Amino acid sequence: MPLDDFGVDDQAACLRLLSGPERDRHDAFKSEPARLQHLAVRGLVRSTLSRYRDIAPEHWRFDANRHGRPFIDDGLGVSGLHFSLSHTHGLVACAVATFAEIGVDAEPRDRDVGLAELAPAVLSPRERTRFDTMSGQARQDFFFTLWTLKEAYVKARGVGLSLPVKKVELDLEVSPPIADFGDEIDDDASRWAFRSLRLTDRHIVGIAAAVPDDELEIVPRRTRAINPPWHA
Ligand SMILES: CC(C)(COP(=O)(O)OP(=O)(O)OC[C@H]1O[C@@H](n2cnc3c(N)ncnc32)[C@H](O)[C@@H]1OP(=O)(O)O)[C@@H](O)C(=O)NCCC(=O)NCCS
Repeated sequence: MPLDDFGVDDQAACLRLLSGPERDRHDAFKSEPARLQHLAVRGLVRSTLSRYRDIAPEHWRFDANRHGRPFIDDGLGVSGLHFSLSHTHGLVACAVATFAEIGVDAEPRDRDVGLAELAPAVLSPRERTRFDTMSGQARQDFFFTLWTLKEAYVKARGVGLSLPVKKVELDLEVSPPIADFGDEIDDDASRWAFRSLRLTDRHIVGIAAAVPDDELEIVPRRTRAINPPWHA
C-alpha cells in the first residue's frame, strides 16, 4: 500500500480500527511519518485479514513472540492464516499466507544509509565481491534486494537481531534467487523460497517463505488502507 494518498479520511477509518494498546502506541509517536506508517499498517493488516475470515477488521486481536514477531491471537481460534508486516518511507506491506513461516520487508531504492559501512555486516564475502564492482542505482538495487530478502527471512523465522544475516547468502544471478546458509544458521536453506518484487517504482520488497508443499505462488495486490471488500 503506497502512502502517497493516505489522506485524512483513510487515517480516520484506520484509527477507528485500533485496539486500546495500538491507540496508545499511535498517540506516543513523535515522528509524523512513523505515526502514519504505524497507523496505515494496522489498518492494512486488519482489513486484509478480514478478506480471508469472517471477522470484522476491528475484532482482530494480536499477540507477539518474545522477539516481537506479531501473530493472530490464539484465542480467536483462527488456523491456516499468517502474516508479516513492513513499513518504510512511502510504503507499508502486509504478506498473508496459509503457512506460518512468511516474512516481508520493504525498502526505498534510494535509501541513503551508508551502504559501504553497512555491507560488511549484511553481505556475505561473495555478495560483497559483487557489490564492490557496482556503482550508482545498480549498486543500491543490488544491496537492497539482498537486504530485503534477508530481513524477510529474519522476520519469517521470527527471531530478530540474533540471526547473523551475512551468513544467509543469496545468489541473485538466478531467478528466483537461491539461498545458501552458513553453519551458524541452524536451518535448511532448501526449505526456503525467496522472491524480490518491485511493487512501486521507488521500492524493493523482499519475500521469504518456507512453503510446506514446495510451491510458492505470490499474488501481489495494491490496495488502499481499507480494502473495500469487507465493508462493501
Ligand atoms: C525486527 C526487525 C525484523 C524489523 O524490521 P525493520 O526493517 O526495522 O522494520 P519493518 O517496518 O520492516 O518491520 C517492522 C515490523 O516487523 C514485525 N516484527 C517485529 N519484530 C519481529 C520479529 N522478531 N520477527 C518478525 N517480525 C517482526 C512487526 O510487525 C513490526 O511492525 P509493527 O511493530 O508496526 O507491528 C528488524 O529490526 C531486525 O531485527 N533486524 C535484524 C536483522 C538485521 O540485522 N538486519 C540487517 C539488514 S539484513
